Amino acid sequence: MLILGIESSCDETSAALVADGKRIVSNTVFSQIEIHKKFNGVVPEVASRNHLIKILDVVDEALGGAPLDTVDAVAVTNGPGLLGSLLVGLSTAKAIAFTQSVPLIPVNHIESHMYAPHLTNDIPFPYIALVVSGGHSLILKVDSFQDYELLGTTIDDAAGEAFDKVAKVLGLGYPGGPEIDKAAKNGDPGFMKLPRMLSERREDRYNFSYSGLKTAVAFRMKGMTLDSGTVADVAASFQSAAVAALIEKSLNAIRDTGIKRLVVSGGVAANSCLRSRLDELRGDGIEVYTAELAYCGDNAAMVAGRGYVDFLAGKTGGMKTDAYSRLPLVQKGKRVFG
Ligand code: KG4
Ligand code: ZN
Repeated sequence: MLILGIESSCDETSAALVADGKRIVSNTVFSQIEIHKKFNGVVPEVASRNHLIKILDVVDEALGGAPLDTVDAVAVTNGPGLLGSLLVGLSTAKAIAFTQSVPLIPVNHIESHMYAPHLTNDIPFPYIALVVSGGHSLILKVDSFQDYELLGTTIDDAAGEAFDKVAKVLGLGYPGGPEIDKAAKNGDPGFMKLPRMLSERREDRYNFSYSGLKTAVAFRMKGMTLDSGTVADVAASFQSAAVAALIEKSLNAIRDTGIKRLVVSGGVAANSCLRSRLDELRGDGIEVYTAELAYCGDNAAMVAGRGYVDFLAGKTGGMKTDAYSRLPLVQKGKRVFG
């Protein structure tokens, strides 16, 4: 079954063709990073307008000359994300599905990130999922594609958000994650002693808090001269603390459930420090799967892949499918209690 995936939830306009949820025929991603750089963050209205400008070219490129009637269904991200941006992808998907008389499959953005490691691996269930992006930091116990339980989340900022904010304070570019990753390579992670986040609180075994860490970094930087050496040291210290929390909370979930399998996805899964800590876990007998680098950030291949398993589960939407900006399961500022 050949599915056309469409993704426009934030600042990437993407379309992909994926056969049977696994065989990636194409995956075209237009990133708006250069457009938003000068604002030091994504400007929602600017993002929607640029999705509008690009979406048809991106779909055309993903099709690579294949006629639209070779597509068996259209899968599209319908939330959570920036509402105006989501609507561009959703309207395009609806128009294609309607004119071709094929099913429209609405795809949850988080579930599509969770699917990304499945694109290139055969992963048995159950597993613990760590989803870390610009908007979400989640730990879940996953029993099947359709059956999972949220164990923990951030009580304030998401991991990617913290990378972006600390990069801003350090005068590094946007998006901050890759910039911090790069700068930290020449830095000393022991340079700045940073607080361990929520680690002692029993009720927060799987929850994160990144706002305090970001504030601690900013506070300790007061009066520092920011030469390139100091920037590298602060970046390395922050990154090491941020990644330690991801590992620690994932390990809590692994130990408590006895499920020694961890699947990591989302933009922050591209982080080299996190990936090397995950390698260490592999050495400790934990089965670890990560999304390939090309599928960590937002892309339509993961949407088409997730669309396939949702289609098999009977989850198709009609022309009335709506876009939504927030994930009802996860509310910012609310803890998940185990
Ligand atoms: O999944 P994603 O592309 O979009 C959302 O759904 O949010 O994630 C984007 C986030 C940004 O905050 C970005 O700074 C972060 O992922 N990111 C990284 C790295 N590459 C991207 N964070 C840390 N290290 C990286 N190498
Ligand atoms: Zn995303």
